[in-house]
Amino acid sequence: MVEMIQRAIRPKTVFAFVLLVGLSLLTGCRQPDTTTQEEAQIVSVFSYDQTEFPDAKPWTSEDFRNDPDNFQFAVLGDRGGGASPLGTYERAIEQLNWLQPEFVMSVGDYVEGYTAVQEEMDEQWEEFEAIVAKLEPPFFYVRGNHDINMPLTRKAWSERRGPQYYYFRYKDVLFIALDTEDAERPMPPNMEEDIATYNRLKKEDPKKALAFIVEWMKTPEAQEAFGHAAKVEFPEEQKAWFKKVLAENTDMRWTFVFLHEPVWDNPSDSFKEIDQAIQGRDYTFFAGHTHYYDYDLINGHEYITVASAGAAFVHDGPGNVDHLTWVTMTENVPQIAGIALKGIFDRKGLDPEMFGAYDRTPVLGPGG
Ligand SMILES: [Fe+2]
Repeated sequence: MVEMIQRAIRPKTVFAFVLLVGLSLLTGCRQPDTTTQEEAQIVSVFSYDQTEFPDAKPWTSEDFRNDPDNFQFAVLGDRGGGASPLGTYERAIEQLNWLQPEFVMSVGDYVEGYTAVQEEMDEQWEEFEAIVAKLEPPFFYVRGNHDINMPLTRKAWSERRGPQYYYFRYKDVLFIALDTEDAERPMPPNMEEDIATYNRLKKEDPKKALAFIVEWMKTPEAQEAFGHAAKVEFPEEQKAWFKKVLAENTDMRWTFVFLHEPVWDNPSDSFKEIDQAIQGRDYTFFAGHTHYYDYDLINGHEYITVASAGAAFVHDGPGNVDHLTWVTMTENVPQIAGIALKGIFDRKGLDPEMFGAYDRTPVLGPGG
């Protein structure tokens, strides 16, 4: 009998308890104390003597851009592929420390690669990692053709950087790093020897190294290696992984996809499948590889190819710029600004010597 009564009253008791807790929470949310606390926080970040400004104020509004859900990150372009011996990438890292984004994304090609010599590969990665170690915010890697073009370099990536592709979430925004170098392609002839020559000249005579890369970028080998003729294929496993990540992260307010090669310029069937999978979401693509800034608006979505951060210029035109991209994720949409590295200078003033790192000679021909 007692048990029957308990069974009969339990649901009502539970309902009443839940209702009570719910009402308390609702009421609690509207407590004047909480509102006062929020107001106090607003006052605490911007306050002034209101008696000083009874009417006109020497500012335009009090709509400060300080929503804690907003955040800012930077995107840095290619270094490898004729990394400037003038230390352009090093300058960019120093400048990012001045600007203090919450983190830095990148689009691949950190080293020259194309070597079968273990010591050479180790030296290249140690040089790059020493540069990036000076960056204060976190730095996120993406695989580029210069990083993983031969068995030895693929092994080096696996040991030092781990997965080929990955994702993370940051403040309800999804970041996906894809691998455009997943399907192996034949290496251009003489590539290993030419890269070795460039690396040697960089150490021996930076000016000769610059002249060498300018000439080398005009060669058929370079054009074949860095042009857009070849379509980039995404193997089944990566495509399936991409779709799974999207399916498991549907409540994101934006999705950013980073990959090395701007595959939308000459899309393969496998990229079309990837592109199809992301439709219906709010997203932006970022790539590098061409060392030339390019902007595509496709079906209302932005596909941005960032230019270089020291890699050799290989086209002619206004897209030749060493720069970083500054992205501010606002409530619903990203704001995006390109900042030329030569437009960011030390608080102590301009250093004329630094301009050598940015005012570099463009080279005609397709690039990479
Ligand atoms: Fe590249």
